[in-house]
Amino acid sequence: MRVGNHELEVPIIQGGMGVGVSLANLAGAVARCGAIGVISSVNAGYREPDFEANPVVANLRALKREILRAKEIACGKGMIGVNIMTAVSHYEETCRCAAEAGADIIFSGAGLPLSLPEFVRGTKTLFAPIISSARAAKLLLRHYRTRYQEEPAMLVIEGSGAGGHLGFSEEELLADTAKSNEEILSETLAVAGDISVFVGGGVFDGRDMARLMRAGAAGVQIATRFIATEECDAARRMKEAIVCAKEDDIQIVKSPVGMPARAIKSPLLEKLARGEKYIALKCNGCLTACKKGTEIPYCISRALIAAVSGNWEEGLFFSGSNAGRVNKIVPVAELIGEIMGEYKEAMA
Ligand SMILES: Cc1cc2nc3c(=O)[nH]c(=O)nc-3n(C[C@H](O)[C@H](O)[C@H](O)COP(=O)(O)O)c2cc1C
Repeated sequence: MRVGNHELEVPIIQGGMGVGVSLANLAGAVARCGAIGVISSVNAGYREPDFEANPVVANLRALKREILRAKEIACGKGMIGVNIMTAVSHYEETCRCAAEAGADIIFSGAGLPLSLPEFVRGTKTLFAPIISSARAAKLLLRHYRTRYQEEPAMLVIEGSGAGGHLGFSEEELLADTAKSNEEILSETLAVAGDISVFVGGGVFDGRDMARLMRAGAAGVQIATRFIATEECDAARRMKEAIVCAKEDDIQIVKSPVGMPARAIKSPLLEKLARGEKYIALKCNGCLTACKKGTEIPYCISRALIAAVSGNWEEGLFFSGSNAGRVNKIVPVAELIGEIMGEYKEAMA
């Protein structure tokens, strides 16, 4: 399929995973297989020496470097995307930085990316909103057309089975009453016209992919399975946490940003359930919506950095609903080969 000027051999987007879970290594390896590899912008500079002192500068510098490295690894194949949540501080600067560094596409969710077309204007970078309902898709498309006379390269639906922050209410998630991926897809296709729609959130194998593509999706977004790959940028302990997790180890948690999120049961979550607090000594103001200070039970930035660094005791391990089915760490090419094999068989 074509996305802008790019020919995509594999209609899979590797979902962006912060903090630091999807950087150049993972995104580059995915793109090298002909798919879309995505770097997450959130606190991309967490390993920079000046991260504590000057997080904005460190993050922008690291983001640029990761994009350039991912492109080198990809050897001109697939596409390199950057996931920039609308909820991050310095959103505009981050979008402009990614576009200037040559990102092929920016994906943006966790809120409505209303101004995104403006921030990539004049560059070759495409843009795509991540949405959890057809209503959001309709609103954004109308806004992009009237305000900018532009259309996104695609729409990405993030359904209720996804990992990380979720665009559904806690009640819906706990009672399992959120709309299915298929329902949201069919409602979104009705407003999307000829814009491609990708679907993610609990997509596990090539059979899921075939089912969604038969229902009209142009492709799928998969994240959790890519954590358990050799090339994933997280520490081995985080990959093992995904491999070891059983279905009932996955739970819905409250994020300090006010949204529900999905994560693996861990010592940190047990401590929080007992009412303990876990606040950073120094807040770097990473998310605009975070209530900060003493109002929140834990600093999400610190907990996600602990997770990606392999600190089981203090980490918050975001995960999609299907982590219980992931049972080994494999190279990216093997995972994509397996999914595409199953997909082709299911479509035959
Ligand atoms: C560890 C982790 C971190 C994530 N971080 C982000 C993020 O920074 N921004 C974002 O838009 N989505 C984020 N997500 C959501 C994924 O990009 C993706 O849409 C979703 O997890 C897909 O579902 P799956 O994991 O079941 O395949 C994250 C998911 C995980 C598991």
